[in-house]
Amino acid sequence: MNNVININSLSLGYGGKPVITDATTSIDAKDFVFIVGKSGSGKSTLLKSFYGEIDVDSGNLSVCGVDMKNIAISKLNMLRRHVGIVFQDYRLINEWTIEKNVMLPLIVNGFSKAICVNQAQKLLKHVKLLHKANKYPLELSGGEQQRVAMARALAHNPVLILADEPTGNLDDYSSEVIWNLLRSAKEFLGTTVVVVTHHIPSTININYRHFFIDEGYLHEII
Ligand SMILES: Nc1ncnc2c1ncn2[C@@H]1O[C@H](COP(=O)(O)OP(=O)(O)OP(=O)(O)O)[C@@H](O)[C@H]1O
Ligand SMILES: [Mg+2]
Repeated sequence: MNNVININSLSLGYGGKPVITDATTSIDAKDFVFIVGKSGSGKSTLLKSFYGEIDVDSGNLSVCGVDMKNIAISKLNMLRRHVGIVFQDYRLINEWTIEKNVMLPLIVNGFSKAICVNQAQKLLKHVKLLHKANKYPLELSGGEQQRVAMARALAHNPVLILADEPTGNLDDYSSEVIWNLLRSAKEFLGTTVVVVTHHIPSTININYRHFFIDEGYLHEII
């Protein structure tokens, strides 16, 4: 499938108050997309609509070929199995170890225990947290939790990664680790990557698309 996200005259908001107005664009397989905009401009809202956390007010939105308008929960759960999400507030399961948190998308997809453990350990190694595999989220710093969230998002080799400020709490070195992981996902696995950020890293060294949201309108800088 070439067209991973299709947006047509899309409007989104809360309780009738518009946040995104009349957005139209499409994001193709293997695109690496940055969405920027000032705080409160609607970046998270737009990203949330891509995994069905925000309903479509008007217009059309399809993700991986699935129409997101009035989507049934069963269909949404199916779609989410193919998407990796890094939430702005991480949303780790505090009662689970770090390793089990990273295993979550693999467990949902029915992989065997051995594969889950193997893959979780590989990713924790990538984000330099293997030594904390048996700790719990609340025993980790904010930046460490953010790296766990990224490891979890990548665990099942999703076709689409949606990441909301994935380096918001990280120092330069850890940010570099995250950008390299996302770049590798695109280059070696053909993953489509959509990242909300306040700063596009100058060292990213990849062809990317650059969108910004201003006054509710989505623009692309070409
Ligand atoms: N659950 C909600 N209910 C009502 N209004 C909301 C809700 N979530 C966000 N908003 C409002 O929608 C607007 C866009 O919020 P959003 O979180 O998308 O911004 P953002 O661009 O991600 O900001 P930031 O850079 O601070 O994360 C803001 O005015 C915010 O107050
Ligand atoms: Mg946000």
